[in-house]
Amino acid sequence: MQTLVLNASPRKAWNTAKLLKSAAEGAKSAGSEVEYIDLYDLNFTGCRSCMLCKRKGAQRCHCYWKDDLSPIIDKIFRADVLLIGTAIYLGRPTSRYFEVLERLHFCALSYDDYSNYFTRRVNVGLFVSMNASKEFYDKLYKDAFEGYARELQMLNGEVCLYPCHDTLQVADYSKYNMAGFDAERKRLSREKNFPRDLENAYQIGQRLVRETCE
Ligand SMILES: Cc1cc2nc3c(=O)[nH]c(=O)nc-3n(C[C@H](O)[C@H](O)[C@H](O)COP(=O)(O)O)c2cc1C
Repeated sequence: MQTLVLNASPRKAWNTAKLLKSAAEGAKSAGSEVEYIDLYDLNFTGCRSCMLCKRKGAQRCHCYWKDDLSPIIDKIFRADVLLIGTAIYLGRPTSRYFEVLERLHFCALSYDDYSNYFTRRVNVGLFVSMNASKEFYDKLYKDAFEGYARELQMLNGEVCLYPCHDTLQVADYSKYNMAGFDAERKRLSREKNFPRDLENAYQIGQRLVRETCE
């Protein structure tokens, strides 16, 4: 049983990373081995259109471009559970997240009939952290992020989308030009809501592993 955890946010110890680490602990508690990777430490780009994955005789679901991401793509396709997290940047996942999805999706896509080459099942937890409140997320982001979650159905498993709202973006708001944020509200949200988010992430990691055993 293997769980792969991918942090597609640049900060290694902040909101997204904390959610992912908690989800990873949940996965471990259910008996899975866990590998945790900070994607911003690696050297890669999005799809380079080399077309090697579409050559006759090419291995299916394998990205041929020689950089740090291709081995990770192999690991995703071999995993039982994928826990991936991103912050919201300007209404979207981070650019790193898109680079991964571009390469993952394209090498599993048949250009003969647009079917999915991938036949195993990988359960996915998609963790999304943001400044936005739940109300703002529901109104402006939810539809798009449910779409990003649907894209991960190419891995044929359950996809669980977890939005984490109203995160603390900096430790001390008084040191920044961030008057648009209510620092007190942020502090309260961190104290009251974030522990619950971490617990929910733990439960999701645990459940996604357990469900692969059923
Ligand atoms: C470049 C940039 C763009 C951002 N854009 C948004 C946004 O459009 N909506 C939002 O709710 N939060 C936005 N944020 C805030 C982050 O999503 C939020 O602080 C998140 O929890 C950061 O994750 P991290 O702590 O893992 O880095 C942005 C942050 C940065 C640095």
